[in-house]
Amino acid sequence: MKVFISGNIADSGLKLLAQNNIIVSNWKEARQITSSELIDACRDVDALVSVGPNKLDASFLQSCKHLKVIALHSVGFDNVDVEEARRLNIPIGNTPGVLSGATADTAFLLMLAVSRKAFYLHKKILNGQWQNYEPTPELGIELHGKTLGIFGMGKIGLEMAKRCIGAYQMKVIYHNRNRNEQAEAVLGAKYVSFDELIEKSDVISVHTALTPETKGKFDMAVFKKMKPRSIFINTARGGIHNEEDLITALQNKLIWGAGLDVTNPEPMSVDNPLLNMESVAVLPHIGSATQETRNAMADLVAKNIIAGLRGEKLPHQV
Ligand code: DGY
Repeated sequence: MKVFISGNIADSGLKLLAQNNIIVSNWKEARQITSSELIDACRDVDALVSVGPNKLDASFLQSCKHLKVIALHSVGFDNVDVEEARRLNIPIGNTPGVLSGATADTAFLLMLAVSRKAFYLHKKILNGQWQNYEPTPELGIELHGKTLGIFGMGKIGLEMAKRCIGAYQMKVIYHNRNRNEQAEAVLGAKYVSFDELIEKSDVISVHTALTPETKGKFDMAVFKKMKPRSIFINTARGGIHNEEDLITALQNKLIWGAGLDVTNPEPMSVDNPLLNMESVAVLPHIGSATQETRNAMADLVAKNIIAGLRGEKLPHQV
């Protein structure tokens, strides 16, 4: 059996595939593979590991209906036409759970960096602008006892909430499609309406999937309702915020700051005004990028492929 991997995954996953006599071919170029190149690469293989934002839409799936399984090297599956995959009987696997801690760490890192203007002040050193010690300019804000609003209280949101309670005794409110009993029982998190979430939070951290309902959810109307000293954090998908509106909201001080691990589009252009704002921190979609997590993701990807090629139920199927 053969699998095409549209990027590089950690060795542990490759080893598992080899132990199961699965022959691997890889996309080797630094640029993202195009849709037609992906279709070509899949012609002679039985399975695909999709690394990065490949669009696995109806047209791709119809061109590759011979695939026995597709394993995503991600928890998010917004780039897949899941309905069409079901219709064509192609199981789609993803990697939930193993990246929750690392992604929550990234959200926490951004929150703290924004609250202390850390990325902006670091750039000042690089630009030779470290001047005399001054007690008043460019001050940050503290997080202790503030209210954290989680938009999407799943596994990653729960991990972010734990970190914020442990470090700063923050109060946690959340908004979800469904109540999260674990978050309520273990963390004392309070379920609120979306309006209450945006009006009451000092920090809003987004941990929901990108869906037609969440696309562009954080727009000017929402930023206007947020507190003027609030921080917006997004480590989920760039499409959930309207980036033009976010820039305007920050320029007009409707909110205090923003931390983004995901942008719209990705990669972000180097002349994006967000990169020069004092209370903004941007990272290049590194949420799950630790050695431990990427090993665990590669293992799950391999297990999904092995199960799919055997005609078994995938350990993690979307
Ligand atoms: C995920 O797992 O969804 C990450 O954002 C990588 O795409």
